[in-house]
Amino acid sequence: MNLEPTITEPDMRELAWFVHSRFGVNLSMYRSTCMRRRIMHRLNMVGCDSIEEYFMFIGSNPEEIEKLMDIITIHVTGFFRDKDVFSNLERTVLPAMISARAESHQNSIRVWSAGCSTGEETYSLAILLNHLIQRSGSGLVMEVFGTDLSEESCKTARSGLYSAEKIEEVPSQMKSDAFEPEGSLYRISAGIRKKVRFIVHNLFSPPPFSMLDLIVCRNVLIHFEPDGRGRINKYFHESLRDGGLLMLGKSEALGSDALDMFELVHPRSKIYRKTGESNVKED
Ligand SMILES: C[S@@+](CC[C@H](N)C(=O)[O-])C[C@H]1O[C@@H](n2cnc3c(N)ncnc32)[C@H](O)[C@@H]1O
Repeated sequence: MNLEPTITEPDMRELAWFVHSRFGVNLSMYRSTCMRRRIMHRLNMVGCDSIEEYFMFIGSNPEEIEKLMDIITIHVTGFFRDKDVFSNLERTVLPAMISARAESHQNSIRVWSAGCSTGEETYSLAILLNHLIQRSGSGLVMEVFGTDLSEESCKTARSGLYSAEKIEEVPSQMKSDAFEPEGSLYRISAGIRKKVRFIVHNLFSPPPFSMLDLIVCRNVLIHFEPDGRGRINKYFHESLRDGGLLMLGKSEALGSDALDMFELVHPRSKIYRKTGESNVKED
């Protein structure tokens, strides 16, 4: 017997209208089957039998709106998530990037963690890059950006405050430089925080950055329909410098429509290099 409430197409359209009017987020870009399943599960949890009942529930429990957005967007993340990928970044990808930038007399490296949730991925990149730049003696300056649709997640990310359990996966040789104890928690060190910036951004809007060396967008595109992914891939191409890299999540891949813009250079870590020239030129 199916105990979960059913959500019909018209219900989904009503919900999409509601979410768009409140958050400016277009749900038609998100993969509908998984989202519908998650929403049905939520209705079940809060004891609603229909979408109408759920709207009434939201009316008397305004905090449920945040919960609904969490269900739609999913925030699971972690420091140095997918160790083998970070190990490849540490051993191969970032040292090569640092050398290339230093040899071509550039003074900075710019990285964007797109769909960064509560900041763990962004700080992992910043901690690692900071460590490698110092070790290289290149004097390069790093600029690391984290963006997410969720204002709440960006707020948490900006605070840079995490539990001991959360930072367990940070390699021990980087931990002491990267964190300062604060009560029972740990705060990202001021030295790293001043090189990292978080802003609220919807990936379906034009990109807020340009001339990037690396875009990391992991476990985000998987939630979108092909049309939505296509639009974002174009934005990523536009915001990378020529030859810049795009890294996706381990179970993600670019569709064939993006292969005239990117070539796969590290298959196991899902890293692509931008091909073709961008319109934006280096200063
Ligand atoms: C599963 S988390 C991924 C976090 C991190 N990239 C990682 O892999 O550890 C997905 C994030 O994508 C964000 N997201 C979903 N839709 C988005 C959109 N349209 N624009 C920007 N971020 C979005 C969610 O808010 C969520 O924090």
